[in-house]
Amino acid sequence: MLSKFHGFVRKAISPTNVTRALSTKQAMEREYNYTAHNYKPLPVVLCKGQGIYVWDIEGKQYMDFLSGYSANNFGHCHPKIIETLQKQVTTLHHVSRAFYSDILGEYAEKVTKLFGYDKIVPMNTGVEADDTACKLARKWAYRRKQIQKNQAKIIFCSENFWGRSLAAVSASTDPDAFEDYGPFMPGFSCVPYDDLRALEKAFQDPNVCAFMVEPIQGEAGVVIPHDGYLRGVRELCTKYNVLFIADEVQTGMGRTGKRLAVDHEKVKPDILVLGKALGGGVYPVSVCLADDEIMTVLEPGTHGSTFGGNPLGSKVAITALQVMEEEKLAENAEKMGRIFREEMKKEEMKKLAETNIVSDVRGRGLLNAITIDRNYAEGWDVCLKLKENGVLAKATHRDIIRFSPPLIMAC
Ligand SMILES: Cc1ncc(COP(=O)(O)O)c(C=O)c1O
Repeated sequence: MLSKFHGFVRKAISPTNVTRALSTKQAMEREYNYTAHNYKPLPVVLCKGQGIYVWDIEGKQYMDFLSGYSANNFGHCHPKIIETLQKQVTTLHHVSRAFYSDILGEYAEKVTKLFGYDKIVPMNTGVEADDTACKLARKWAYRRKQIQKNQAKIIFCSENFWGRSLAAVSASTDPDAFEDYGPFMPGFSCVPYDDLRALEKAFQDPNVCAFMVEPIQGEAGVVIPHDGYLRGVRELCTKYNVLFIADEVQTGMGRTGKRLAVDHEKVKPDILVLGKALGGGVYPVSVCLADDEIMTVLEPGTHGSTFGGNPLGSKVAITALQVMEEEKLAENAEKMGRIFREEMKKEEMKKLAETNIVSDVRGRGLLNAITIDRNYAEGWDVCLKLKENGVLAKATHRDIIRFSPPLIMAC
């Protein structure tokens, strides 16, 4: 059924445009020999992308159902994003925050007005912006909530994922992420996801200053909480004077069928974190948004980043936000996601009669996943089969395959 989908940009790249200096095997061996083995890529060597399509070095065309881990919401080489990148890179690319630039203010005004916050801290990657949110929360704890020095606590959820830094793995419950990286950050603990009772119990500790949560857990396998969970989180955070930090690095920017995943429950977090698609898939741009009551705890010299907020990244982010709005990508994600799940469920029903290989189909907008019954197959093997059939997706854990294509998809 995936052949039903196509992108707005259908222009095929002729195989003569494709570099074939090395064979697939040689290219894979070179990458394997000179990079640490902290990833296990599918055996495909990509060299071109256009819209929802990518091509391997043998000229084979695929639909990209991963979107660079949800960074390519606009597809590959979106003309407006590429034009912005090219113009800005030859005008002013980086100056550092030692000086003002003519672009950062424009970007900050646009992103704060769009999402309804007073100020931003501009960063680069998702993990940096999440780390920034934790730092803001701790400083707020000492300056505003009057928590005793070094006693502030932040609560996360089991199965959370917010990156690979020491702070992020300190909050992780996945042994693959944290094993052998200790000692860990103190003042972090976890409650089960989608469990308001456990959260309220954790909030009895007056030293808790923040709760950081993904509105849908992406890396955990597209885990969607019950309706009302996010509203419940908002109410509890307000009741106990705890900051609600929404990690929308993966779910933001239209991915789940709304501009933000918290919009499904019409709640406003105290700190909003965005990344990935904010940089248009071409440049790492992330951001922490909050109101003045929180943001004003930061003073000169107390936080920073060499590249965060540079003119190139800021201009690209302005265009990414414009494209998201102009092309109504959230609405399109909602529509395409519905069709995707309906069709997958039809397929699932057909298969159920024979095997049981797909035990679940779930998702919101274009953040979807299927669970594979491991009695029949491993996620990896299913991804290899999909690849043979011109679809690129990747298993998360061993039995879940995530489908997160560019939001420009059509059918
Ligand atoms: C919810 C969430 N937060 C943070 C991150 C980390 O982002 P980055 O890899 O850009 O540091 C990810 C990455 O997958 C994520 O899914």
